Amino acid sequence: MLLKGLILAGGYATRLRPLSCTKPKLLFPLVGTPLIERMIEWLGRGNVKEVILAVNHLSDKLRMEVGSKKSGSGVFLSVEETPLGTGGPLRLADKLLAGENPVVVVNGDVAADIDLESLTRTHEMSGADASMTVFSVRDTRPFGLVTLDSDDRIVGFEEKSPLNRGPGWINAGVYILNQNVIEMIPKGRAVSLEREIFPVLAKRGKLKGWKHSGFWYDIGKVQDYVTANMELLARPGYLPGRSGGLAPISSIEQPIYLGDGCLVGKDSKIGPRAILSAGVKVKRGAKIHDSIVFEESVLGENSLVEGSVIGEATTIGKNAVVGSGSIIAGEVTVPDGMTLKPGSIVLN
Ligand code: GDD
Ligand code: MG
Repeated sequence: MLLKGLILAGGYATRLRPLSCTKPKLLFPLVGTPLIERMIEWLGRGNVKEVILAVNHLSDKLRMEVGSKKSGSGVFLSVEETPLGTGGPLRLADKLLAGENPVVVVNGDVAADIDLESLTRTHEMSGADASMTVFSVRDTRPFGLVTLDSDDRIVGFEEKSPLNRGPGWINAGVYILNQNVIEMIPKGRAVSLEREIFPVLAKRGKLKGWKHSGFWYDIGKVQDYVTANMELLARPGYLPGRSGGLAPISSIEQPIYLGDGCLVGKDSKIGPRAILSAGVKVKRGAKIHDSIVFEESVLGENSLVEGSVIGEATTIGKNAVVGSGSIIAGEVTVPDGMTLKPGSIVLN
């Protein structure tokens, strides 16, 4: 069964600022590969061959990426004039999504290895109008709280419930929706699936839960974005890092990842836990560990970067120090010799 999919890629990604000022969430690299590439590949494996990207922010950059060969064909953009929430975009794109089959809907900041085929099959057999992937976490408060019955039917749904402090099942942001669910969404205004649609479906007994265990992160906060990257990096498949040009006398401590075209100078030290996207240059004597660097950035001679995230096309000057927990936006220049204290945030 061929399915259509919609990725929710709007919103302002405020919790990823300042990195998101120059890059939409979907283009954030996960161990060197933009999230959108991974998502489209994953959707394709689950028989989703037509994908709609619902966007409203920084759509030019996404448009360029979608137009590039990497993302492949079958990807379309649906652009909102004003943000329509998590439900409105489905209504806006209802003609594109129309057909016999249910539709796969994904929050555009979820990095996970969910078995989409199994989710679809379970949905088909359940007789539910919608199925939601659920995931078990230690603190449910930042998420949509799900109450399941013994058959994994969702009997209660509450978005960002402040009361439940403990562990529990949450909405993992990957759904299968029958066409009649899209018809439930009011037209022409912002609608929250989580606040307006899922509680109603749960009450009607028409919302099935599908438990995922394994890799799952919402990368919408910098700390979670970093943890997701480091967890993936630690998987055996990523070792050793690819190298564009590694000076023989630079030292490496695994795990590390070097994207295509990275250049690493003499006497530099990379790792442990350094993820450098394509085209990053590490000059002579520079040191980096526990950090992520987006594409085309430069670490100057004898600079030091520890436990930080550095946006794309940024230059860290000669002898500069970036202290642990810092976030440097894209397209920034940190002057030669400057020391940034731990936890610094640098905007463009
Ligand atoms: N097109 C469009 N338009 N997309 C939007 C809009 C909008 O107005 N607002 C938000 N989105 C997209 C975001 O880009 C994101 O990919 C997705 O919808 C979810 O929004 P978030 O802002 O990331 O929500 P959240 O993380 O607080 O909560 C959601 O995800 C949790 C799982 O990560 C909810 O679905 C929770 O129930 C869920 O547990
Ligand atoms: Mg999110």
